[in-house]
Amino acid sequence: VRILSVASECAPLVKTGGLADVAGALPGALAAEGVEMVTLLPGYPAVLSALAGAEAVHEERDLMGGPARVLRGEAAGLKLLVLDAPHLYDRDGSIYLGPDGHDWPDNPERFAALCWVAAALAGDYDAVHCHDWQAGLVPYYLRDKPTPTILTIHNIAFHGLAPPERIGALRLVPSDFNPEGFEFWGKVSALKAGLVWADKLTTVSPTYAEELMRPEFGMGMEGMMRARAGDLSGILNGIDEGVWSPATDPHIAPYKTPRGKARNKAALREELGLPDSGGPLCVVISRLTGQKGMDLLLESLPALLSRGGQLALLGSGEPAIQEAFQDLSAQPGVAVRIGYDEALSHRLIAGGDAILVPSRFEPCGLTQLYGLRYRTIPVVALTGGLADTVINASPAALARRVATGLQFYPVTATALGNALSRLCDLWEAPEIWADLQKNAMSHPVGWENSAKAYASLYFSLRH
Ligand code: ADP
Ligand code: GLC
Repeated sequence: VRILSVASECAPLVKTGGLADVAGALPGALAAEGVEMVTLLPGYPAVLSALAGAEAVHEERDLMGGPARVLRGEAAGLKLLVLDAPHLYDRDGSIYLGPDGHDWPDNPERFAALCWVAAALAGDYDAVHCHDWQAGLVPYYLRDKPTPTILTIHNIAFHGLAPPERIGALRLVPSDFNPEGFEFWGKVSALKAGLVWADKLTTVSPTYAEELMRPEFGMGMEGMMRARAGDLSGILNGIDEGVWSPATDPHIAPYKTPRGKARNKAALREELGLPDSGGPLCVVISRLTGQKGMDLLLESLPALLSRGGQLALLGSGEPAIQEAFQDLSAQPGVAVRIGYDEALSHRLIAGGDAILVPSRFEPCGLTQLYGLRYRTIPVVALTGGLADTVINASPAALARRVATGLQFYPVTATALGNALSRLCDLWEAPEIWADLQKNAMSHPVGWENSAKAYASLYFSLRH
C-alpha cells in the first residue's frame, strides 16, 4: 500500500518533540511491512534546504494568501512532498511560535493550507495518515472523496483553535460549525474536525486511548472520544534504534556492558561538574511545561539529594519553570542546562543511572524508552504510555525478576518523593540494580510490533 503521511514536524529535519521522532521513524519501520510512506511537510527553511532532487508536482495560485507549490524530493532517507509557500513558512525562529513567544497568529491558515494540498494529492494514495491538529482538516477536506483517512492523536491538549470569523478563510462550510461538526465551545477546532471525519483514530498508547474517554484526560473531547470508541485504537510508539542504540550511538562512547556505561557516566560527571556523592545520577530531558510535572520534581528533589542522589536536567519551555531550575543549579548535586541539545540528550541517557518522567499526562513518552534501551532506569508517573512501557519494581515483580523501573501514583510531589527514596533503596542493593538494568535493556522498545499494527490498519481500510 501507498500511504501519505501528513505532519507538521519530522526528525531529523525539524523537531520540537516526540511527534517529529514518530513521523521520522514510521516510514522506515513500515517499509519492512510492505508499506510505502511518503511524508508531506511544510516548507520551513530547514526542510527546503535539505531537500534534494526536487521537482514541482502541484501548484496553487492562491493558497490562503499567496502562491504555493508542492515539491517532490528526498531528504534524510525520507520520501517527501514539501509545501513551498513562503508567505506561510519562510520565517525565522520556531515553527509554531513568533518572536513574542506566542503562536503565530496565522497558525490556523498555515496548517489548513498543508491539509488542503494533502487533500488535493490524496487520490494517488491508498490512505492518508494525519498527525495531530495540524493535519486535522485533511479528513474534513476529503469528506466527499473515497480516500480513507487515519488521525493519530499525539496530544489531545492541542486543539488547533480559530475564531469562527476565519471559517471562510479556512475553506470550511459554515453549516458544519456545530457541536456534531468542527465547533468546539464557540471556536473552530481543527483537531475536532479530524476526530469527527477521520475513518479511523489512533493514539500512541493503549492506556492513553482509555484515558482520552475520561474527563480527567479528554480536555473537553472525551464525549467525542467515547462516541468514536469503536474506531479508536492505541498503538504504542517505538524508538528509532538506528539513532538510539548504546552499541552504535555516535554521540557517546558506545557500550554493551555495565562497565561501558560507567565510562559514559564518568565523562558526564566530568562535563557537568557533578562528583560522585554516593547516590544515583538521575537525568531529565523534557519540554518544560505543565504537562511534564516539573513542579513536582522541584518539590520532591530533597528526597533524592538527601540520599546522595543527583539531578541533571536538559530542557526548555515556559520561562517560569526554566527560571526555577536555573535558581536550583547553584545547589550541589544539581546540573541544569536550559536549551535544546540533541547530542547532550544522548550523553545524559547514556551516562545517567535513572531517567525521571513525572508527567501529569503522557500520551506515550519517548525518553523512558531511550532509558530502557540504555540501562537507565525509568522513574515514571503511572499514566498514559508511561504505564504501558515500564514494569514497576513492586515486591512481586522484584521477586520474579521482571521489573524494569519505578512507577508512582497519584501524580503528586509526595508520591514522586517516595519513588525517589525507593530508587535510592534499590541503588543501594547492587544485585537488584543489576537485575533492573538487565531487564530494562532487554525490554522491546523498537517499532516492529507497532509497525505491524499500523500496516494492518492501512490494509483494513483499502478498498
Ligand atoms: P513530547 O513529545 O511531549 O515532548 P516525548 O517524550 O514523546 O515528549 O518526546 C520528546 C522528544 O524530544 C524526545 O526525543 C526528547 O529526547 C526530545 N527532547 C525534549 N527536550 C529536549 C531538549 N531540551 N534537548 C534535546 N532533546 C529534547
Ligand atoms: C506527544 C506526546 C508524547 C508522545 C509524542 C509522540 O508530543 O506528548 O507523549 O510520545 O507526542 O507520539
